[in-house]
Amino acid sequence: MEHVCKRILREFVAHSPWLRAAWLAMTDVRQGYRMRAGDIETSSGATHAEFSLNQSLDYIEGVFADYKRYGGLDRFHGVGAEIGPGDNAGVALLMRRDGCERVDLVDRYFSRRDPDKQRLIYEALSKRHQLDALKGEVSWSDQALIGISAKVGHAAELFFETLARSGGGAYDFIVSRAVMEHLYDPLSALESMTLCLKAGGRMIHNVDLRDHGLFSPALHQLTFLRFPRSFYRLMTHHSGRPNRILLHDYREALERLREKCLITYRVYVTHLVGVGELKPHLDPADIPPATWRKAEEAVDKYRCHVSREFREVSSRDLAVAGLFIVVQAGDGLDRSQPCSAHVLGVDEARGTERESVCAASTVN
Ligand SMILES: C[S@@+](CC[C@H](N)C(=O)[O-])C[C@H]1O[C@@H](n2cnc3c(N)ncnc32)[C@H](O)[C@@H]1O
Repeated sequence: MEHVCKRILREFVAHSPWLRAAWLAMTDVRQGYRMRAGDIETSSGATHAEFSLNQSLDYIEGVFADYKRYGGLDRFHGVGAEIGPGDNAGVALLMRRDGCERVDLVDRYFSRRDPDKQRLIYEALSKRHQLDALKGEVSWSDQALIGISAKVGHAAELFFETLARSGGGAYDFIVSRAVMEHLYDPLSALESMTLCLKAGGRMIHNVDLRDHGLFSPALHQLTFLRFPRSFYRLMTHHSGRPNRILLHDYREALERLREKCLITYRVYVTHLVGVGELKPHLDPADIPPATWRKAEEAVDKYRCHVSREFREVSSRDLAVAGLFIVVQAGDGLDRSQPCSAHVLGVDEARGTERESVCAASTVN
């Protein structure tokens, strides 16, 4: 009986946007207390917990292949960073095997994992890709991967800001999958990461702009856009839930960097509201008009519910539910000086000076 009542209550909350939002806010406060007490363990990023061995291998290889394909890379090399790797370092191992001399794994939390399962994944991955030289102990373990350095408990925002302040320019590659949408300040992180790239270095971020099940499928997939910013923050700040930074925000930040000749960039759309996944992912200009129309119509049906901050955003922008962002750093950064993470805001003169030699906004 108690079980049935609980299920009915859960269903009722799931179908009521405001009750569900209140519950999310409560659990976010709880997560805040846990983090202040030093507990950074989370199920976010425990991607491999439910996977079979073959699914794990497919996932790791797929993520790695996507970085190379959409990042336009022949090989990884130099020093890399993966932000928010979650429970497995398989992608970093493949980056090492491809040519990176070191890969740093920067994660705010510690994703729960099963060491035995990890060992099996690494063994099987090693068999396929000859990774044995990267095994630091007799058997595979997360703690002993040669040339892979885990920075657990480091928010990407602070990690890269600190590095940028001390000179930046440390990385040839910074990659992430399904992570930028969890950052509490992804746009400042994007700036700081730019400063941490070497000249010619690349950032490749796959960003899932959907609601990650906060309200869907019980409610419309755009339900998370109906809450005012301050209230939404209460639901998400400590727990790393989706930050609701959407295409138009990224584009504005990227354009600011491009106008200062610090980067060139490209964007691919991975998902559209009302359409689903686009495979292969497409440059917005290559999406057929009929597909855009279908997606925009799906947004238009829900538009009247979205909160004020999204009212002026075009339906086309709101329709983009997933992105690949590929950034290439130019040589516009003066790396001889320690830089502030907000150098872009305060150093207008340098940016303007360089504007006249600006390249096109595409990564070759
Ligand atoms: C959805 S998981 C993705 C994990 C992995 N990239 C994958 O594809 O399976 C999001 C990851 O981002 C991490 N994360 C959340 N907020 C972060 C932050 N501010 N800085 C760094 N990592 C963060 C989480 O701990 C988690 O590992």
